[in-house]
Amino acid sequence: RHFREDNLSQETKTLISSFPSYKDYIGNLYNYRGCWYYPNTLQGVLNFEKGFKPQETDIILASFPKSGTTWLKALTIALFERLKNNSSNDLHPLQSDNPHGIVPFLELNLYLKSSTRDDLTKLSSPRVFSTHMPFHTLQVPFKDDPLCKIVYVCRNVKDVLVSLWYFRCAQLQKEVDMESLFESLCSGVGSFGPFWEHVLSYWRRSLEDPKKVLFMRYEEMKSEPSAQVKRLAEFLGCPFTEEEEKDGSVDKIMELCSLRNLSGMEINKSGKTCNNVPYSSFFRKGEVGDFKNHLTPEMENKIDMIIQEKYNGSGPV
Ligand code: A3P
Repeated sequence: RHFREDNLSQETKTLISSFPSYKDYIGNLYNYRGCWYYPNTLQGVLNFEKGFKPQETDIILASFPKSGTTWLKALTIALFERLKNNSSNDLHPLQSDNPHGIVPFLELNLYLKSSTRDDLTKLSSPRVFSTHMPFHTLQVPFKDDPLCKIVYVCRNVKDVLVSLWYFRCAQLQKEVDMESLFESLCSGVGSFGPFWEHVLSYWRRSLEDPKKVLFMRYEEMKSEPSAQVKRLAEFLGCPFTEEEEKDGSVDKIMELCSLRNLSGMEINKSGKTCNNVPYSSFFRKGEVGDFKNHLTPEMENKIDMIIQEKYNGSGPV
C-alpha cells in the first residue's frame, strides 16, 4: 500500500504536483529532498518531519531497504532484552513478534497516516525506531536538539539489488524484470534511492559524529559476528560484561538472531506486517555474494563504475 496514493492529504497532493516525478513498474515516485518515494511513503515522511518529537535517548536503526534491517533490529532487541531480569519461562519478544513488529518504521508505520503520535511519549526509554529515510531527512525534526543514537547498516549494493528483486517478486506476486530493477538502482530513481547518496549521508555523519552514528556493514556482521555484536552493544550503551563474555552471552545472542533460528519461528512463518507483507519474505538466504548467481559481468561492471564515480575513493568502500 506504500505504492498507492490513498493516504495523501489535499495539502500533500498540491505540494507534490510540483515535485519531480517518475512512473516506474509499480507506480509514481516523487523526489523530495533528493530522495525518491512512493506517494503514501512520502506522506509518511512529511508527517514524520512535522510531528516527530525526538528524545535524546532514542535509538534509530537506519538502512537502505534489503541491507540487513531485520537482522539489525533483532540484534538490538536481543541486546536490550538481556538486561531485563525476565524469568526463563517468559516468551522472548522475538518469539512472539517479528523484529519489524517490535521496532516500527517511522515513515512506513508510525507516521504513515498522521503527524500526531502523542502515544509515543508514553513509551519507555530508550525508544527504538527504524527508518529507510536518508540522514538529511531524518535529522529534520531534531532542529537544534542534540541528535539521538543512530545505527546504519550498509550492504554491498549488488546483493541489495538481488535481495530487492526477490522481495519485490514476493510482494507483487509476479516475476519482476531484473533488468528494469537494475536500471532503476543505477539511475537512482527507485524507492529510497539513490542508493549512493543514502549510504554517503550516514557514512559522512558517522565520521563527523561517531558517538551518535554507528556505521555497520552486513558483510562484516557475517564475517566477524561476535566483534560486530560487541561493537553494537558498546555503541548502544549496553556493553557485555566480562562475566557475560565468559558465559557465552555473545554467542547466545548471535544464535537467537541467526537467520535460521528466526525464520524457523512460528510467528515468522505465519505472520504478516500491518502492510500485509508476510514476515517470511524478510528471510531468504542471507549470504554475501549471491549477486554472482544473478548479475551478468556487464551489470557488475556498470555498478563498479558507478561506485567509483560516486564514492571517488572517499566513500565507505
Ligand atoms: P537476502 O535476500 O540476500 O537473503 P532487510 O532486513 O533489510 O529487508 O534485508 C533482507 C536481507 O537480509 C535478506 O537478504 C535476508 O535474507 C537477510 N536477513 C534477514 N534476517 C537475517 C539474519 N537474521 N541474519 C542474516 N541475514 C538476514
